[in-house]
Amino acid sequence: MLLTLSPKALSFSSFTLHKSQNPRRKSPNPGQFQSFRWRCSPIFVKSEVQIERDIEFETGETFFRHESARGRDLAVLSASLYKRSNGSLRVLDAMCGCGIRSLRYLVEADADFVMANDANDDNRGVITGNLSRVERGTGEERRWVVTHMLANKAMIERYMVADFFDLIDIDSFGSESAFLRDAFNALKLGGLLYLTSTDGYSSGGHRPYNSLAAYGAFIRPMPFGNEIGLRMLIGGAVREAALLGYHVTPLFSYYSYHGPVFRVLLRVHRGKLHEDRNYGFVTFCHLCGHSRTVRWDELGLMGCPCSDTKASSSLVVSGPMWLGPLHDAPYVTEMLELAKEWGWVSEGSGLDLEKLLSIMIEESDPRLPPGYTIMDQMASRAKINSPSLKKMTSALVKEGYAVSRSHIISNALKTNCPMSNFIRIAKNEMQS
Ligand SMILES: C[S@@+](CC[C@H](N)C(=O)[O-])C[C@H]1O[C@@H](n2cnc3c(N)ncnc32)[C@H](O)[C@@H]1O
Ligand SMILES: [Zn+2]
Repeated sequence: MLLTLSPKALSFSSFTLHKSQNPRRKSPNPGQFQSFRWRCSPIFVKSEVQIERDIEFETGETFFRHESARGRDLAVLSASLYKRSNGSLRVLDAMCGCGIRSLRYLVEADADFVMANDANDDNRGVITGNLSRVERGTGEERRWVVTHMLANKAMIERYMVADFFDLIDIDSFGSESAFLRDAFNALKLGGLLYLTSTDGYSSGGHRPYNSLAAYGAFIRPMPFGNEIGLRMLIGGAVREAALLGYHVTPLFSYYSYHGPVFRVLLRVHRGKLHEDRNYGFVTFCHLCGHSRTVRWDELGLMGCPCSDTKASSSLVVSGPMWLGPLHDAPYVTEMLELAKEWGWVSEGSGLDLEKLLSIMIEESDPRLPPGYTIMDQMASRAKINSPSLKKMTSALVKEGYAVSRSHIISNALKTNCPMSNFIRIAKNEMQS
């Protein structure tokens, strides 16, 4: 269905936010927004021209981070794949900032329609100016609209008039969970939900009661907390989807240390799963470094092989969360093919997109459990020098274990090898 929005159908109520939103500031609290009528007068913004993937845009006083470009690349690749396979693409960019994502969805992914929403109506001049690079169109041909509602309100409104989206992008500060239900309702079945969380405290296990409230997961400190952050976010969506009679699968998951930022792209399917083997608990033993997954029906059987007794104070448990693969390998392979087609690979800056997507494909092996082993931590626990990742990888493969790099941290391996065997193999490698 093409655009059915008209200024009448939309309520352009608006909200005041802090004037200057710089990345170091605390998140704006939507509860602080004061509603007042939408202002038609043009808004003065300080002009600063930026370029991302050859697209020019301005950021004015809006919240904008260059470091998020990789997250935007991944979003645009996915949106384009969706358009190619479904023939149409309607996007809700629920927290659009200066509108760069909306612009990229229109220009690069050839979106038929983008609703660029940001609660802060001070951003209006910048967003509209940026999107004006694409002809707006009218009636059924209208390609974009700019609104200033709280994201929840935007999604509820669209849902109430059965105006559904193929892709909803929620690039929020802090945790996302408050948006999940409204996002599922406003999304087409088979549609894509792109979530962002910047809640590093919760994923690090420093606020277990916060993560419990937000994601239904009690998270304890573990050395692979950044992967836990992704799994906690997916798990929160799994839970919320089940409530509505849906289920979700992650197409990719991306951690970036700027922020930190946790991003996941989920596909939403009809029907809830009666037995979800991918939703459960992760344990970590601070004594020996061993980690394993625990299903709901194994909750009474928790223990670590290094301990004689079943109950050990060195054992911590986090969850429930997503236990399955972080990415869908065939899907990420398609993203990589498209990135190559667009000349987005081998740019030699930061973590190259080709390398990132290649590691994601490795990480998707369903035999790999949650978590990773940081080589230096393993070496200091075993009182040995650390073998190279390359040597260790081939030794693990030779013994029949699954192994991959981690896109989250360079000096670590993901494997299904128990820690005691891992250390034995590492010692052998250092002696050979
Ligand atoms: C991280 S920035 C968005 C950056 C943008 N997506 C990009 O890629 O450059 C978050 C934006 O969300 C807006 N915002 C915060 N809370 C909101 C809410 N509840 N509903 C809608 N917008 C909100 C802020 O005004 C801010 O512009
Ligand atoms: Zn142990």
